[in-house]
Amino acid sequence: MDSIVVTGGTPLNGQIAIAGAKNAALTLMPATLLSEEPLTLTNAPRLSDIATMTALLQSLGVEVTSMQDGKVQVLSSHAMTSTTADYEIVRKMRASNLVLGPLLARHHRAVVSLPGGCAIGARPMDIHVTALEAMGAEIELKDGYLHAKAPGGLKGAKVPLRFASVGATENVLMAATLAKGTTVIENAAREPEIVDLAKCLRSMGAQIEGEGTATVTIQGVDHLGAATHPVVTDRIELGTYMLAPVFAGGEVECLGGRLDLVGSFVEKLDAAGVDVTETKDGLKVKRRTDRAKAVDVTTEVFPGFPTDLQAQMMAMLCTADGTSVLEEKIFENRFMHAPELIRMGADIEVQGGMATVRGVERLKGAPVMATDLRASVSLILAGLAAEGETKVSRIYHLDRGYEHIEEKLSGVGAKIERISE
Ligand code: EPZ
Repeated sequence: MDSIVVTGGTPLNGQIAIAGAKNAALTLMPATLLSEEPLTLTNAPRLSDIATMTALLQSLGVEVTSMQDGKVQVLSSHAMTSTTADYEIVRKMRASNLVLGPLLARHHRAVVSLPGGCAIGARPMDIHVTALEAMGAEIELKDGYLHAKAPGGLKGAKVPLRFASVGATENVLMAATLAKGTTVIENAAREPEIVDLAKCLRSMGAQIEGEGTATVTIQGVDHLGAATHPVVTDRIELGTYMLAPVFAGGEVECLGGRLDLVGSFVEKLDAAGVDVTETKDGLKVKRRTDRAKAVDVTTEVFPGFPTDLQAQMMAMLCTADGTSVLEEKIFENRFMHAPELIRMGADIEVQGGMATVRGVERLKGAPVMATDLRASVSLILAGLAAEGETKVSRIYHLDRGYEHIEEKLSGVGAKIERISE
C-alpha cells in the first residue's frame, strides 16, 4: 500500500495546472450509451475513478480508446453486449449508477447494482428511481440490483426532485434526451458538472434549456449523434490547490481556474483573509497575513459552499485565528478527517452535523489515515503547514480524485513524496 509523506514549513510559489473535472467526466462518459456514434472527450483527468468507469462501460460492450496519456477518451457504444452493471464494479464507485438513465433511454432496460453505502453516508437512490418511474420506467429492487425496464421507451414528464441530487439530475437529464415528449426537471441540481453535461448532450443533438437553473426542460429527440467535448475544469481540485498557499504561505497560480466555478468558496476565503486574483491564465492565491481568520462554513448545493471542499476548509481553519463552526448539510457522515486532524494537534469538537474548530498556532506532523477522497487530501494539505513529517496512509482514496498530486505540489516547492511499503 502506498503512503505519502509531507514535511511542513516550506512556503509555496509557482503554478499548478488544474485538470478536467472528475465529477464531469464520470457523467459524460456514460452519455456515450445514448448514441451509437462516437463520443470524444478532451481534457479528461487521469484518475483511478476514470479507469473504473472505463471498466464498467467496457463490461457493457462499449469501446473505450484512451489517447494522449488519458487526456483524450474516445467512446463508442455501437456494439453493446450487456445492460447489466455488475456489483463488483458498482460497489467501488457510486457514479457507476449514472449508466441507469442512458441504458433505459436507448435500450429500454437496465440492471444496475445498488452502490451500497460508502464512508460518507448511506447514499440511497430513491430520488433517481422516483424520477425515472415518473417517465414510465418500471423499477424493481431484487437481490441488491435495480431491475429497470421501459417497454416502448421512456416518456417525457414533469419530474420534481425532493432534493437537488446531482446524480439524479444527471440520470434524468440523459434519460430525457431520448424520451418521447417533453421533460421538465424541477429543483434540478445546478452544479457546473450538470451544465457541462448539458453542453455535451446538446452537441450530440439533444434539445435542452435551463441547465444551471433549478428548472431544466428537455425536448426528446429520436437520435443523438457524434460529438467532441472538452471536460470542464475541476472546481474541487481547483479549490483544493487554492488552499495550499493558505496553509503553507507563498503565492500559487492555479492555471485554468475560473471564479464562476468557486464563487461561494472564494467569498469564504476573502472573509478568512485570503486574496484571490484573476489572471489571464487562472486564479492567483495568497493569504494577506501569516495567519488566516476563523470563518463559519455551511455546505449547500451549488451555488452554496461545496461539500467536497468542506474537509479541506476544516483543515485550514485548524490553525486559523479564532473559532470556526462548520455545518455539513449534504452528507450524514463527512467529518472523518476530524479525528485524524486531532492526531496532528487540532482542537475540533464534532456533534452530529456540526464541527467546532478552535484555531491552534500550529499542527504537528503525525502518521494519519485517509478515509475518503476529500478527507485524504485535507490531511496532505494539513501536512504542508505542520511542524515535522506527516505520513498519510491508504492514499488509494487520493488517487481516485487527484492526478499526480505529489508532482503538482512539489512543483511549487512542497516537500512531498510517495512511498511504497
Ligand atoms: C455527487 O455525488 C458527487 N459525485 C459527489 O462528489 C458530491 O459530494 C455530491 O454530488 C454532492 O455535491 C459525483 O458527481 C460522481 P447527490 P451524488 O445525489 O450525485 C442524498 C467526490 O468527492 N441522496 O447530490 O451521489 C445523498 O445520500 C464525490 O467527488 C438521496 O437521499 O450526490 C446525499 O446525502 C463525493 N437519495 C445527498 O442526497 C438519492 O436518490 C447528495 O447526494 C440521491 C441522493
